[in-house]
Amino acid sequence: MIGFSFLLLGLSFVSAQCNKGLFARTQADMDSVSNCSKLVGDIYISGSSVTSINLPNLEEIEGSIYLSRNIGLTSVKLDGLKKLSEFLYMLNNSAVVEVSFKSLTTSGDFYISQSPSLSKLDLSSLSQVSDFDLVSSSIGSLNVDNLSTVGNITIISNFNLNSISFLKLTSVKGDLYIQNNTFKELSLKTIENVVGDLAITSNKDLTYITMPDLTKVGKEMDLSFNMNLSNIKEDSFPKLNEIGGDLKVIGTFDTFSLPSIKNIEGSVEIDSSGCFDCEPVSSQIEQYVNGTYHCYRGKIGVLDLFGDSNITVYNIDSSGACVLNGASASSTPKTTQSTSSSASSTPKTTQSTSSSGTNTKSSSESIHSSTPPTSKSGSISFIKSVPLFKTMLVLTLVSIIIF
Ligand SMILES: *[C@@H]1O[C@H](CO)[C@@H](O)[C@H](O)[C@H]1NC(C)=O
Ligand SMILES: *[C@@H]1O[C@H](CO)[C@@H](O)[C@H](O)[C@H]1NC(C)=O
Ligand SMILES: *[C@@H]1O[C@H](CO)[C@@H](O)[C@H](O)[C@H]1NC(C)=O
Ligand SMILES: *[C@@H]1O[C@H](CO)[C@@H](O)[C@H](O)[C@H]1NC(C)=O
Ligand SMILES: *[C@@H]1O[C@H](CO)[C@@H](O)[C@H](O)[C@H]1NC(C)=O
Ligand SMILES: *[C@@H]1O[C@H](CO)[C@@H](O)[C@H](O)[C@H]1NC(C)=O
Ligand SMILES: *[C@@H]1O[C@H](CO)[C@@H](O)[C@H](O)[C@H]1NC(C)=O
Ligand SMILES: *[C@@H]1O[C@H](CO)[C@@H](O)[C@H](O)[C@H]1NC(C)=O
Repeated sequence: MIGFSFLLLGLSFVSAQCNKGLFARTQADMDSVSNCSKLVGDIYISGSSVTSINLPNLEEIEGSIYLSRNIGLTSVKLDGLKKLSEFLYMLNNSAVVEVSFKSLTTSGDFYISQSPSLSKLDLSSLSQVSDFDLVSSSIGSLNVDNLSTVGNITIISNFNLNSISFLKLTSVKGDLYIQNNTFKELSLKTIENVVGDLAITSNKDLTYITMPDLTKVGKEMDLSFNMNLSNIKEDSFPKLNEIGGDLKVIGTFDTFSLPSIKNIEGSVEIDSSGCFDCEPVSSQIEQYVNGTYHCYRGKIGVLDLFGDSNITVYNIDSSGACVLNGASASSTPKTTQSTSSSASSTPKTTQSTSSSGTNTKSSSESIHSSTPPTSKSGSISFIKSVPLFKTMLVLTLVSIIIF
């Protein structure tokens, strides 16, 4: 009898713990929910002394997870969790190395930011998520290979990122922002449709990009300030047929081509300081542009934001040769077909014409004569502002006050 009521007490203790979320300040607080398979309420751990979160028994959270400014936190493992009804918000946990949600299939917004030590992220089961944000981590390869349904994707300022893989993703329902990361190649083979904006910008080491199945971008497309991306050729966006908004490509590229484009609803701005000839691009796409069309070849003036202040500028000389601005024109010319993208002091030519002419002023139609577009174009979508979830935070705080 006594044993039985103890058991009852024990059970009600467990279920009470499982029904009021978790507000943990210490590692010991974590133990209070260690037996719960379902938690109703939010997990809120902020500015705590918690060093690791490991709740293998937890399969479902009817609520959200909020983890911020836990300076000693190194590991977050919720490997039994299948469903998170609301969001995961991880902000500024500077020591976190590992985040593992092996079994998680469905989640609200999944947001990880300011986690400079984070190198392991397991989301191998994740198939459905509202928005997905990974900002300022040291993840080397981001694999979310079961993901099939997603709102916005934001991948910004990951200084160790070598690859991104979404093997099952065919459509992004919102925006796809990939900015200020360090990979050399970006290959997103399955994505056919981005309903919102597509912005792949300021990835300084990017030399090759391909989205072979992409047919449609619903809103704006921006491929600017990838300063090592010298060619956007036929194989980069071979099937891209329609852009619902503006197209912006500003950089140092030598070639740009969208072979299948048939409709650009907005305006187009193409501006390169590379050894770039507008004519082939213009004859390919201008006829399909609904808004205004501008193609320039000239100095790009807004690079200081990213520390790339020394830009190589080429000019087309009177013979049609493309030579480095200020370089001695007697050096050996190079062709644009050359794979070399680096800013060498060797002049390049658009044709294979060997030119020994002087570094003359370029023809006015191919060079943007006045100051290049600066803050106007530069500020449009450099880095998307990160959502602050203010309302969610307020809700979370309110729920903490309640329990
Ligand atoms: C969890 O379950 C174990 C074994 O059933 C028990 O010993 C422990 O006290 C429980 N912990 C809590 C916090 O209820
Ligand atoms: C991140 O957290 C640390 C330690 O709590 C704090 O000093 C720092 O100001 C925070 N940074 C930001 C950007 O919030
Ligand atoms: C991926 O999702 C499918 C359902 O879409 C599921 O059957 C499969 O088990 C998942 N794979 C992993 C590794 O979770
Ligand atoms: C994308 O983000 C915007 C702005 O935060 C939001 O209004 C929109 O609903 C999101 N789109 C999707 C499909 O989640
Ligand atoms: C780009 O990422 C680096 C880290 O890799 C960071 O220091 C820098 O502030 C980021 N720049 C912007 C504009 O976000
Ligand atoms: C990209 O270009 C910069 C110079 O603009 C250079 O320092 C850097 O090494 C290049 N990165 C790669 C991967 O080529
Ligand atoms: C783009 O097309 C729409 C209708 O298809 C038209 O209303 C609009 O004026 C066009 N915009 C420009 C700049 O031509
Ligand atoms: C740009 O060039 C100047 C002089 O040529 C040099 O002093 C400066 O350090 C360079 N800046 C960068 C970011 O390379």
